[in-house]
Amino acid sequence: MDPVCYGNGGDVGVKVRKAVIPAAGFGTRMLPATKAVPKEMLPILNKPCIQYIVEEAVYAGIEEILLITGRTKKAIEDHFDRSPELEFHLEQNRKASMLTEVKKISDMVDIHYVRQKTPLGLGHAILCAKSFIANEPFAVLLGDDIIQSTVPVTAQLIEEYEDPTRVLLGVQHVPQKDVSKYGIVQPLGALGTGSRVPVATVVEKPLESEAPSNLAVLGRYILPPNIFEALEKTPLGHGGELQLTDAIEVLARDGRVDAFAFTGRRHDIGNLEGWLIANLSFAMDDSKLAENILDELQKNEHIRTHLAAF
Ligand code: G1P
Repeated sequence: MDPVCYGNGGDVGVKVRKAVIPAAGFGTRMLPATKAVPKEMLPILNKPCIQYIVEEAVYAGIEEILLITGRTKKAIEDHFDRSPELEFHLEQNRKASMLTEVKKISDMVDIHYVRQKTPLGLGHAILCAKSFIANEPFAVLLGDDIIQSTVPVTAQLIEEYEDPTRVLLGVQHVPQKDVSKYGIVQPLGALGTGSRVPVATVVEKPLESEAPSNLAVLGRYILPPNIFEALEKTPLGHGGELQLTDAIEVLARDGRVDAFAFTGRRHDIGNLEGWLIANLSFAMDDSKLAENILDELQKNEHIRTHLAAF
């Protein structure tokens, strides 16, 4: 995906210039791969997951990004920095296209970093962005949710965002048995793909029997600056952590939250199965790679035996 600006161009929309990307989690579901490598640096094909997220923000017209990191995340900063030795090596070896590719990563956008010193939850991570955001609406992109779509989801949301005092949540239906993994909204009306409705409530990881719907918030938000005030007043919630969902619920009670059903195939790359499927799914977008992989899968006797027994 080329980081050309897509969102922020409409006549109606509100300018959203800043994005926050929380990247402080341990990635325990992907251990031991994540023991010394930040989970955000695990690749999908030959690109680290975090680069997909940053490119999605840039594509949507975001000008400044704040990455919320932690002590073990230095590799992320290195990835988005210049690499003089590598650039020199590529230059010497006349690898021009690779050199352009490598330089593009560090030139893409202004990235700022702040460390979340204690892992007190997603809401606490977002609070770390308070002074960076100051007084404007901003996008939040969660790194575990990689969404494959023609128009990246953040651009879809920004196109839809009209009122800088409201929250806009990117949602999709999930299987009923999975509702307890997500923030679940209660929409005020039917919600078809590509449409937006106000939200009555939003609940973090409800029991299946208590979920108000099966519409889940899938890691994409546009938030107004007054979310910080709401976060500061919100008590610790699910898992003893400060939950972003609980602060959004404060604004929902005030009638200030909408949900938008975005278009796209969402992958939870925070677990092994989701990460593997994401790799295969992205490979299908590259015709040469797709052909080779499908051919290999068909030829591989071990895989064929398993498929036959499935
Ligand atoms: C977080 C949010 C949750 C959201 C989910 C999307 O949960 O708290 O509301 O639905 O991301 O992936 P986590 O997966 O970090 O536990």
